[in-house]
Amino acid sequence: MPNRDQKILVVGACGQIGVELTLQLRKMYGEGVVIASDLREEHPLLKGTGPYVSLDIMNKETFHVLVLRYNITQVYLLAAILSATGEKNPMLAWHLNMQSLLNVLEVAKEENLAKVYWPSSIAVFGPDSPKENTPQHTIIEPTTVYGISKLAGERWCEYYWKRYKVDVRSLRYPGLISYKSQPGGGTTDYAIEIFHDAINRGNYISFLKESTYLPMMYMPDAIRATIELMETDASKLTVRSSYNIGAMSFSPREIAAEITKHIPGFSIVYSPDNRQKIADSWPASIDDSLAKNDWGWKPEYDIERMTADMLVNLMK
Ligand code: NAD
Ligand code: SER
Repeated sequence: MPNRDQKILVVGACGQIGVELTLQLRKMYGEGVVIASDLREEHPLLKGTGPYVSLDIMNKETFHVLVLRYNITQVYLLAAILSATGEKNPMLAWHLNMQSLLNVLEVAKEENLAKVYWPSSIAVFGPDSPKENTPQHTIIEPTTVYGISKLAGERWCEYYWKRYKVDVRSLRYPGLISYKSQPGGGTTDYAIEIFHDAINRGNYISFLKESTYLPMMYMPDAIRATIELMETDASKLTVRSSYNIGAMSFSPREIAAEITKHIPGFSIVYSPDNRQKIADSWPASIDDSLAKNDWGWKPEYDIERMTADMLVNLMK
């Protein structure tokens, strides 16, 4: 747990993960300890819960000044362009995803920050990686610009740890499912849209084929995993690129069947688009035994529990 002298900066705090992570960090460590920042306006759920600053992480000097002004000791970097949006503008995705990380790693090195968190993704894997139970160390040849940027980012994290002892930690998140804030343009977003359409319209048009299995995780598990990793003693961590973590794996047909148990008459049709190719290049399930062994990772939500919780909360 950060002591009184720790100050945390969340960059990209108004995104799908950032809102929930910021709220949880404030709950655990105190609202004044956690500074939220983003390019966007402050998210309504963050208002009144703690300090908020406007920040473009691409501007290294502004970021550096902010770190000094607030005596920041830990940074969670969440700003990125995700897989589907990245394919629409590959150079922008590469530029943001790389430069934001390098800016944070450089300032962390220069100011001797205590810890940095930066997420990677299942998108580091490619069509030649094993599909089932994809291991931590295997063929890693991503075919999307998003995946390429995550792979390069992982290499930079390990480099800064080994060369400069910057204590940067990372998880390869699966597709994250949540109801508090909107997803930001990923291929796994279908697994969130389907809940909204099931409730609002009773049917869903899936942009992935019915049998497309992908690794998924419910947001409470992802937030808990992130904070648990950050709180683990550094000596226990054997992976300094990014840890595989898993929770569940399902296809559009399976999640639709699960939703139908709660909303009888719900229907789904399949109209795959360009995101199908991205999904086809990713694993179906993940081997997260190193995360389990090194820092005790254990998911709490499976497809049944996650679906019930999503529906209850979205219907409120
Ligand atoms: P998101 O798109 O919802 O949020 C990203 C936030 O970053 C947005 O609020 C955006 O305004 C902000 N941002 C963009 N450019 C910025 C800049 N220049 N300066 C400051 N802020 C900027 O993304 P997310 O889903 O919350 O993902 C966060 C991280 O987790 C990303 O690195 C993403 O690759 C990774 N990840 C997410 C998932 C998922 O399913 N959501 C899965 C795997 C990995
Ligand atoms: N959920 C993310 C995406 O689909 C995976 O990193 O882009």
